[in-house]
Amino acid sequence: MSSSLNRRQLVTLIGGLAGAGAAVSLFASTPTSSPAASASPMAQTPWPYKAIDPEVAGQRAYESYLKGHCMYGSFEAIVGPVAEQLGDPYKSFPFMMFKYGAGGANGWGTLCGALNGSLAAIQLLSPNPNPVIDTLMSWYETEPLPNFYPKGAKFPEIRSAAGTPLCHESIAHWCKKAGKKAYSPERVERCGTLTASVARKTVMLLNEQAAGKMMAGLAQSTQTQNCSTCHEKGGMVENIRAKMECGGCHQVQIKAGHGI
Ligand code: HEC
Ligand code: HEC
Repeated sequence: MSSSLNRRQLVTLIGGLAGAGAAVSLFASTPTSSPAASASPMAQTPWPYKAIDPEVAGQRAYESYLKGHCMYGSFEAIVGPVAEQLGDPYKSFPFMMFKYGAGGANGWGTLCGALNGSLAAIQLLSPNPNPVIDTLMSWYETEPLPNFYPKGAKFPEIRSAAGTPLCHESIAHWCKKAGKKAYSPERVERCGTLTASVARKTVMLLNEQAAGKMMAGLAQSTQTQNCSTCHEKGGMVENIRAKMECGGCHQVQIKAGHGI
């Protein structure tokens, strides 16, 4: 922390600037560009990243899930080892802030927390996050998951494709396939092994990008591509913003032959 400004230095700095307007603009600027923030290496993104072991990250994600749920689990498993490699101040990152992501944000069933934590890790560690994010989200929608079973998992493997990046449908599809309740111990474990699977995949993608490999990027079904031609950016209607699969929610339009 030796390079960060102490209070006295900060007061001197502000005092040295021409008038109150300059002092206000110092604090109004974005964190990465303000002099106060750039004094700490932790405030710069991306953090330096060297390949880590995906299998180790998968196991760690499962164990972290048991401490702080899905979003914390995936984020901590990916960023924790990087912070440990880099030492202080990186290790003081408040990892537990991501506990809120449990159950698609405190049980609201929106974005899957295992994805959400992984996306935050990608944004923090990748010099070019968007293709990694699109690759991971498309993979999550279609891949039968969990596909990684960590040590300590008790129940038989049951995999299902979420068809969506949303927690609600992801859990519903799995419960239907497994014949289990949403609050059963089996489902709780499934989200732990899912967190492990998503963290492991994310590390594979980060490693591939770090090695200079191209990402697959967005992979939509033909049907969704078709919907987007008219409804997304530049289309004749242009009234939505979404890359996710349309079919899970718009069965009515599809069955009625709309847009096909
Ligand atoms: C050829 C262009 C085209 C395609 C392809 C298309 N749509 Fe549409 N869609 C329209 C138009 C035009 C409207 C009417 C818009 C309005 O009234 O403002 C519409 C309306 C809708 C509506 C609201 C009205 C309704 O019918 O319930 C929904 C929802 C919708 N589309 C979903 C979809 C989905 C999902 C797909 C892919 C399966 C799709 N659309 C493909 C052009 C298209
Ligand atoms: C998670 C569920 C979900 C998914 C996935 C989804 N939608 Fe929707 N969409 C909705 C809901 C809910 C509304 C609001 C419907 C309403 O209020 O009538 C909506 C609204 C729309 C509308 C405007 C309807 C109108 O009445 O004007 C269009 C067009 C549309 N969606 C197209 C799409 C397309 C294209 C995709 C895929 C890229 C998509 N949606 C994915 C749930 C979804």
